[in-house]
Amino acid sequence: MIQDVKKEAKSALQTVPVITVDGPGGVGKGTISALLAAELGWHYLDSGALYRLTGLACVQKEIPFTSINKVAHIAENLVVEFLPSGGILLNDVEVETLIRTELAGNNASKVAAIPEVRDALFKRQKAFLQSPGLIADGRDMGTTIFPAAPLKIFLTASADERAKRRYKQLIEKGNNVKLSDLVVEIQERDERDMNRSASPLIAAQDATIIDTSELSIDEVFQKVKNLYKKL
Ligand code: DC
Repeated sequence: MIQDVKKEAKSALQTVPVITVDGPGGVGKGTISALLAAELGWHYLDSGALYRLTGLACVQKEIPFTSINKVAHIAENLVVEFLPSGGILLNDVEVETLIRTELAGNNASKVAAIPEVRDALFKRQKAFLQSPGLIADGRDMGTTIFPAAPLKIFLTASADERAKRRYKQLIEKGNNVKLSDLVVEIQERDERDMNRSASPLIAAQDATIIDTSELSIDEVFQKVKNLYKKL
């Protein structure tokens, strides 16, 4: 079975290009990936959303994250639709706002540490690789899901800088949050994502690392586009 998936993935990679964009939470991967996908007219995989949806589905069904088999079963059987408008349906219900909270991000990070959950979502992520190309955004796109990608980007920024960015976004949306709480949450999530045994957050050896701490979105986008042009 895995052999078949590997064979399929290999032949798809020979014809359909993929660019991986990995990095920690709040670094701007989503924004850059979406811009790039729009510019190239390629598909976009928001792999973090799959972990967020798994966490949400568990909470809705009152399944504790310690029930590994049940959580993996939920991941395997997610009924998800990514709408072209940007919305996300879980069991036909719009959940975009629900999965974007800090709590949903933390829950995602917890279920993502379970190897059985990562296995359950493996094929689903591979299936996003469709013509004319794919921008894959996550933590392990370049290391585990699309290791043969011809262009791998790894974005970084300090936890303080990422917390400031997230703070600004949340305040603009009318949320009442404390910057110091966000710094702690981001550090805890980094810690968990980097130190888990299955597909930890790490740059692939052949990834280009871009430190975005001092860069605007447009500057990062230009750098990524230049890398793409050199392919
Ligand atoms: O990118 P994000 O903030 O939506 O991701 C939420 C969590 O999901 C993140 O803290 C870790 C996990 N995740 C992962 O382990 N692997 C991925 N490819 C994407 C996300």
